[in-house]
Amino acid sequence: MSAPLRNIVVLISGAGSNLQALMRAAQQEQWEQRLQARIAAVVSNRSDAPGLALARTAGLACELLDHTEYPSRHAFDAALMTRIDAHQPTLVLLAGFMRILTPEFVRHYEGRLINIHPSLLPAFTGLHTHRRALEAGCKVAGATVHRVTAELDHGPILAQAAVPVMPDDSPETLAARVRAAEHQIYPQAVREWLQTR
Ligand code: GAR
Repeated sequence: MSAPLRNIVVLISGAGSNLQALMRAAQQEQWEQRLQARIAAVVSNRSDAPGLALARTAGLACELLDHTEYPSRHAFDAALMTRIDAHQPTLVLLAGFMRILTPEFVRHYEGRLINIHPSLLPAFTGLHTHRRALEAGCKVAGATVHRVTAELDHGPILAQAAVPVMPDDSPETLAARVRAAEHQIYPQAVREWLQTR
């Protein structure tokens, strides 16, 4: 008898290019057969997130939970937990999910909550990472996959990729170079996480 599949829930807010990279890896590397894992659902807090359409087209279960419809961060996170837990996830992946999480949420998914951030953490936590890296005169930039802890954009690092900063870079050109690296390291880090558990 084959082992039951482990569910992965992906949270997004925007374009969904990291989600797409994860979906591609899951399909090409046959995560269901080889790692007994699948992307079971995608949850967005924004109705206009292009990533939702991508997930729908791929036939994934999609859910919208609009944070503006909740009176507080706690109320939203509590509702989000209920939605996520309906899928009994082994792993919850933040893939451009642009929300600050409550400590309760982080504690609830301790050890199974992973994020990707577009900087070489611990440098440049928070927003506008590429603009800030250019302003600081950084010669390298990059991305980090890390376990989520209560402190924003902190937590044990699972994977990092560095890319060069070019003299004529704009935040947009640098973001595109970093994004390409993100698409390599996020699926790789998730695969390694699944392989070791
Ligand atoms: C990615 O660059 C991701 O690292 C970043 O949002 C972008 C989402 O792009 N996440 C954060 O800034 C979280 N702090 P995507 O929707 O195309 O995957």
